[in-house]
Amino acid sequence: MCGIIGAIQKKGEVAPFIHQALKRLEYRGYDSVGVTTIADNELYMKKDKGKIDQVHKKLDLDDLPGSTGIGHTRWATHGIPSMLNSHPHFDCSNEIAVVHNGVIDNFMELRRELKKKGHQFESETDTEVIPHMIEDYMKNGYSLEEAVKEVALIIEGTYAVVAMCTKEPGKIVVTRDGNPLVIGKKENAVYVSSDIPAFLPMTDNMVLLLDGEIAVLTVDDIEIEKLSDGERVDRDAIKISWTADQAQKSGYPHFMLKEIHEQPDAIRNTLRLRDEEIEKAAKMIDNAERVFLLAMGTSGHAALAGRHMFASLGGVLATSELASDFADTVYDTITKSDLVVAITQSGETTDTITAVKSARQQGAKVLAITNVVGSSITRIADHTLITQAGPEIGVAATKTFMVQLTSLAQIALKLGEISGKPGTDELEKKRESLHGLPDIVSRVIATEEEHARQIAGLFYDSPSMLFLGRGISMATAFEGALKLKEIAYNHAEGYSAGESKHGPIALVQDGFPVFFVAPRDDTRSRIIGNIMEMKARGASIISVIEEGDDELLELSDHSFAIPKGVEPEFTTMAYVVPLQLVSYYMATRKGYDPDKPRNLAKSVTVL
Ligand code: AGP
Repeated sequence: MCGIIGAIQKKGEVAPFIHQALKRLEYRGYDSVGVTTIADNELYMKKDKGKIDQVHKKLDLDDLPGSTGIGHTRWATHGIPSMLNSHPHFDCSNEIAVVHNGVIDNFMELRRELKKKGHQFESETDTEVIPHMIEDYMKNGYSLEEAVKEVALIIEGTYAVVAMCTKEPGKIVVTRDGNPLVIGKKENAVYVSSDIPAFLPMTDNMVLLLDGEIAVLTVDDIEIEKLSDGERVDRDAIKISWTADQAQKSGYPHFMLKEIHEQPDAIRNTLRLRDEEIEKAAKMIDNAERVFLLAMGTSGHAALAGRHMFASLGGVLATSELASDFADTVYDTITKSDLVVAITQSGETTDTITAVKSARQQGAKVLAITNVVGSSITRIADHTLITQAGPEIGVAATKTFMVQLTSLAQIALKLGEISGKPGTDELEKKRESLHGLPDIVSRVIATEEEHARQIAGLFYDSPSMLFLGRGISMATAFEGALKLKEIAYNHAEGYSAGESKHGPIALVQDGFPVFFVAPRDDTRSRIIGNIMEMKARGASIISVIEEGDDELLELSDHSFAIPKGVEPEFTTMAYVVPLQLVSYYMATRKGYDPDKPRNLAKSVTVL
């Protein structure tokens, strides 16, 4: 949430780079934008509410002098989207500029004290206390670095802060606690950002900054130290395996569509995870007394599917829990014999990180599945599987969902091997099916995309829809409904087909769209019963079925066909694809930008 960028170049104007970097970060928030640079010991600033292109058209974000600058694209927490609430924020004399991601819990009290001292505030944000506090310290002879350090020790909450000051041009000071910041380095330039894609076209050299650390950036040097005791940290740069091209639309109208099309490769690459990594994960599960899969949103649906895979292939009972509610439900019962498996594509979701930290405090072990190297979750976990989706820019998760499912499937197969229950031949059949999924997903995209566009055209103005499935297909149905809600803004409920007759069926009347996820697995005959119940009440049935399932084809008003050969444990990976495509085409049919759904951001870093 909120995209931050800072950059220092040896020469040349930095503003055009900052503008482009913000475009690459826009998925983190897009209600307002701002850029500030330093030139000739003065701050130059442009900021306003609106998406980057709108603000650029009005203000020309490239037209600022100087080779040191910072920028921000906002997802509002404190204060409505407005010019004054946009970042960067400044001190009273416009010498200090700050961008911030996170929430400062004690800002009211700090603001009151600063006002008493005569500081003038322009915005309603929590962030604005930071430049004013820095100003106070600098007036008392502190350097920018010393002032930021003092401020970091006083503010409470979560933050990633990037600050610069006209008195120390050519320098940017950054610190973090609970919100991401990564540093990029190349000869003659240094970058800092809340996410890697921002500087990926310039460098693939990344230096991690951890919670509780402060870094002073100049074009020649990166100095990191711990906030608590000032101890110097020597950290080598690491190479990022993502490429700049992966973070471009490459001819697709939207990142979401590109990322749906990238799913076969994303699965293929994740299937190449080293066997020892998978085995280590499986052994952690096997050794645990109880296993809790913790996640939010789409990752929560992967957890739900993972639960089924673990039970069916590995004979392991895991429960899937919403990370946001973990502390209020099972937390008190957690012991050191338990394992939590955190599933989070960003590795930064505060609900998930908070739950995992609390489980750790109780002594539980932590396994993480994430797509982002160096993200917060990787530093809390005992072991991490890094999925290989490459950067996902669309706010709606698609290919990261696919790779989460892939790695959960790999772990489930390994659990099957450890338990010896499914038998070697059976396991081999399952393994082959998993390795066949990249081709199957490619075929689904090739044969069903146009069909999805047509279905979207038929139902895009339906105010409400149901998505039903049984067993593992509940996870698929939930994900179909979530995608539709988040990008097309149609009301959609994902429900257990079995549960649907206990309430949701009351919604159904003539023409009410009901999507059924109906693979040819053990749930099929009961799903047929549920389809009949819905049909009897006039529902329009749209089903996702196996190719050649004539009976279900006949019962459906519309259907998507998935090639044969998908084992029941892996159906989510193939059957969700038409639902992703329907959501995409409903959103675009309604004129919405699926990459930037309203009120959302790519990683949710507030509780
Ligand atoms: C998915 O389309 C959503 N954007 C959202 O539900 C997301 O899955 C959720 O916020 C969890 O994110 P994470 O995987 O980064 O933890």
